[in-house]
Amino acid sequence: MTTSATAATGLRNTTDGGRFLAVAGLRKSYGTGVVTPVLRGTDLELERHRIGVILGPSGSGKSTLMNIVGGIDRADGGTVEVDGERLSDFTDDQLLEYRRTRVGFVFQFYNLVPNLTAGENVEVVSNISEKPLQTDDVLAAVGLADKKDRFPCELSGGEQQRVAIARAIVKSPRLLLCDEPTGALDVETSLGVLALLQRVNAEFGTTILMITHNSAIADMTHSVFRMRDGQVEDVTHHDQPVPAERIQW
Ligand SMILES: Nc1ncnc2c1ncn2[C@@H]1O[C@H](COP(=O)(O)OP(=O)(O)OP(=O)(O)O)[C@@H](O)[C@H]1O
Ligand SMILES: [Mg+2]
Repeated sequence: MTTSATAATGLRNTTDGGRFLAVAGLRKSYGTGVVTPVLRGTDLELERHRIGVILGPSGSGKSTLMNIVGGIDRADGGTVEVDGERLSDFTDDQLLEYRRTRVGFVFQFYNLVPNLTAGENVEVVSNISEKPLQTDDVLAAVGLADKKDRFPCELSGGEQQRVAIARAIVKSPRLLLCDEPTGALDVETSLGVLALLQRVNAEFGTTILMITHNSAIADMTHSVFRMRDGQVEDVTHHDQPVPAERIQW
């Protein structure tokens, strides 16, 4: 494996991919009166069809950054460009459309609808998408073809997370955002979920940005962004990410 460190703002020059996500000078504060800066000029660039991971201590602004990239929240300053479009220029309606059609989200605690089956959880998203994949195909891709009619409470944690991934990819998003997707899972199950994300990246060409506390996961990604106090302070690139199955925990 070759690795090369660049400055936080640097982007590796390559003919493969091209710039897909560009975050520049992003600023976000919370609170009225006592204002707490959370993002303090954050820069991050990720190429198309790559997997990037954000590492960093609790409270360093990882989720805040991801929520802005996903159009769930808005920044106070700076820019986010996804596939040539500038999110800060979007109206609220355009942002909603962006969230609905172009981004998939996977969270730590799955966020499935409890009274819908696995199949129905995927279906509700596919129904509102422009070019959805087939629900059955996606459930098969995550290895849950036979659990389609189970409710979330009848599935293990890893299975629920796989339904959540199916739900996120059924709309064939260009960008998949995963906030600690293995945070609630044991090692074995986590590796299965990570292998699935690598397959989604390879087979669907989805660009993936993932947050984790586990630095072992960094080896399976193309780009590693280390955050501290609201800034990306270090970037590392891997030309050949390690398959998830070979990651040592
Ligand atoms: N809606 C909010 N209102 C006020 N403060 C917030 C809000 N959301 C986040 N913060 C604060 O912003 C800081 C960064 O939060 P964020 O959730 O981005 O951190 P994180 O790096 O994802 O942490 P963790 O690893 O614990 O998930 C924290 O100090 C948090 O308390
Ligand atoms: Mg977080």
